[in-house]
Amino acid sequence: MDDTSSTASKTALMVCAYRARASRWATPLFVDPWAQAIAGDEGEAIAARLDAHFAHMERWLALRVAYLDRLVGNAVDHLSIRQIVILGAGYDTRAARLPRAGVRYFEVDHPATQAAKRARLATLANYPIDAATYTTCNFEREDPIERLVASDLDPHDPVLVIWEGVVPYLTEAAVRATATRLAHGLDPRSLVAFDHVGKKLAAGDVKPAEREAATYVGELGEPVRFGIDDPLPLLVDCGFRWVRSLDFNELALELLGDYVRERMFRFQHIALAAVRTPVALWP
Ligand SMILES: C[S@@+](CC[C@H](N)C(=O)[O-])C[C@H]1O[C@@H](n2cnc3c(N)ncnc32)[C@H](O)[C@@H]1O
Repeated sequence: MDDTSSTASKTALMVCAYRARASRWATPLFVDPWAQAIAGDEGEAIAARLDAHFAHMERWLALRVAYLDRLVGNAVDHLSIRQIVILGAGYDTRAARLPRAGVRYFEVDHPATQAAKRARLATLANYPIDAATYTTCNFEREDPIERLVASDLDPHDPVLVIWEGVVPYLTEAAVRATATRLAHGLDPRSLVAFDHVGKKLAAGDVKPAEREAATYVGELGEPVRFGIDDPLPLLVDCGFRWVRSLDFNELALELLGDYVRERMFRFQHIALAAVRTPVALWP
C-alpha cells in the first residue's frame, strides 16, 4: 500500500475470512472466535473468489497462523519476551486470543487499514480493544521503531516481531529499511519472524494458475511486489546475525501430517532473524 492509499487492505480482510474458516475445522490448528464477525460477507466473498485460483490458501494460511501462534508462546515462555509487535497487523486478533500476564501487544499498520480495523472491532460486543496498543506506520516511508517508541514500546526490552503476510506487498527498499531498523533499533535479544514468497512467484514467472492467483490479489489493490528465495544475505546486510528458514511443506508435514507436492508450498517460507543467537533453540 503506498502513501496515497486511503483504502483499507482487502487482503487483510481476505486472510481474516480464511482464519474464520480454519477455526471451524473438525480439529482446528487454532481458533479465532472473532474472525467470522470481523471478515463479514465482504471478506468471505473475497476469499471465495481466491479459492478458484489457489485452492490451498486456507491450509497455507492456517499453517502460518498456527506456527506464529506457537512462536508467541515460545517467545514468552523461553525467551522472557514481554513485548509483542505485530507489523502490518490487519485484522490480527492475537492480542485478544493469546493474552499472557505482563505481556504487551503493539499493532502497527498502514493508517487506512488500522482505522478500518478499529471501526470493525468497535461493533463487536465482546472484543477487548484495549488488549493492544495501536500505532500507525507506512513502511514505505516511515520508521516503525520511531513510531513504536512514541507509543511507549521499550527499545531496551526484547521484542517478538511478527511481520505476517506483509513483506510480499512492500517494495524491496521498504523491506530493507524496515528490517534494518528492526535489527538496529530493538533490544538485541529480540526475534523477528516474517513470511515471504519466492522470486519467481513475485515476478509472475510461474504456472498460469499461480499467476492468476497473484493477478487476483493485485486486483484487490495490493500487488505482490517483492519475492526472495533466500533472505539470509538481505538480512545480514540489514544487521541480523542469526537466521533460520522453514518452508510450508515442513510445517504441513508437522502440523497436518501430510505432503502434497501440488500445493507448491515449497516456494513459501517463514524466516526467523535475530542479531544474537536466541537463548532457546529455534524453530
Ligand atoms: C495480507 S494483509 C496481512 C494482515 C495480517 N498480518 C494478517 O496476517 O492477517 C497485509 C497487511 O499489510 C499492510 N500493509 C501493506 N502495505 C503497507 C505499508 N506500506 N505500510 C504499512 N502496512 C502495510 C496492510 O495494511 C495489511 O494490514
